[in-house]
Amino acid sequence: MSFSSKLLLWYGENRRTLPWRGISDPYKIWLSEIILQQTRIVQGEPYYLRFVEHYPTVGHLADASEEEVLKLWQGLGYYSRARNLHKAAQVVRDEYGGVFPSDYEQIRALPGVGDYTAAAIASFAFNLPYPVVDGNVIRFMTRLEGIFEEATSPACRKRILEILKERLDVRQAGPFNQALMEFGALACTPQNPLCKRDGEMCPFAGDCYALAHDVASELPVKKRREVLPVVNLHYLYLEEKGCVWVHKRGYDDLWRGMYDLPVWEAAEAQNSDACGEAAEPVAGLTLLKEYRQTLSHRRLHVFFYEVQAGSPLATQIGKNGEYRKVDKKTLSQLAVPKNIATFFRDFNIF
Ligand code: ADE
Repeated sequence: MSFSSKLLLWYGENRRTLPWRGISDPYKIWLSEIILQQTRIVQGEPYYLRFVEHYPTVGHLADASEEEVLKLWQGLGYYSRARNLHKAAQVVRDEYGGVFPSDYEQIRALPGVGDYTAAAIASFAFNLPYPVVDGNVIRFMTRLEGIFEEATSPACRKRILEILKERLDVRQAGPFNQALMEFGALACTPQNPLCKRDGEMCPFAGDCYALAHDVASELPVKKRREVLPVVNLHYLYLEEKGCVWVHKRGYDDLWRGMYDLPVWEAAEAQNSDACGEAAEPVAGLTLLKEYRQTLSHRRLHVFFYEVQAGSPLATQIGKNGEYRKVDKKTLSQLAVPKNIATFFRDFNIF
């Protein structure tokens, strides 16, 4: 039996009934896909139903205010998706006369629509032969075919697409894609896939590389988590006569042009005391708060100290040409990095 026949047979017997299944309205399919990018089915379903009720057609969504759309989206997070949803509806209204495009490239060009979403809409609504490759499909296919490329790499995606393009049943592109995703979601699961469940038989058992080589738990290959360097930032808060000493960052770093506080920065030695140099007691210095923040390329360990006015350290700060005093009342007008803003807020500085 062909791959497609096995898959569709399994799907016929195991598919879940979902409100966006078995319909061909591209607007509703698109809406469901955007919501499901953001959340799991159980959480996404009530949002989908509410959106469809408020906006039964793409025109209704286009005509709504952005504020209302964001409100309906509230709780899902990542609001740029909701903004793109609204924008895309307006593109369909303004450029396509309110009729959702049926051409893959036109669908792909809508705001917020990537390769996966375009393939999902094109195949589910219009039966166009574009394979879907989402996380569930990647898991199933890397195991079935023994693909050891890192799962999110373009190379992995390309290999999967090539295989699926050959196997896709062009007469049933929509059901084929739904079945593929459903098989990954329900059968070829991260833990305890169908092949390992007592009394169950996976329809692909005879074809599966991972089962034959007992490597299902190693696939798909995940990106190695980089160990990020830790940087300690020691910020000094010195208030004198209604003024606060600040520091304008140079133009060569992440926070260029922003203001922070007098700071010393120290890369953390491996396994060092978390507090680094500042663990040493310094006269006139009181630790107020520590924060941690992970950036893309380093982890910050941020310490805030209060410097006693009149202390030797305060004198040093006053003499350092890099620092200047600003009226405390004007602090709120300065652009500051997130951890400084958090500190100001937590300590009611303004
Ligand atoms: N996850 C993303 N899209 C889906 C769909 N159409 N059905 C089930 N789960 C999904």
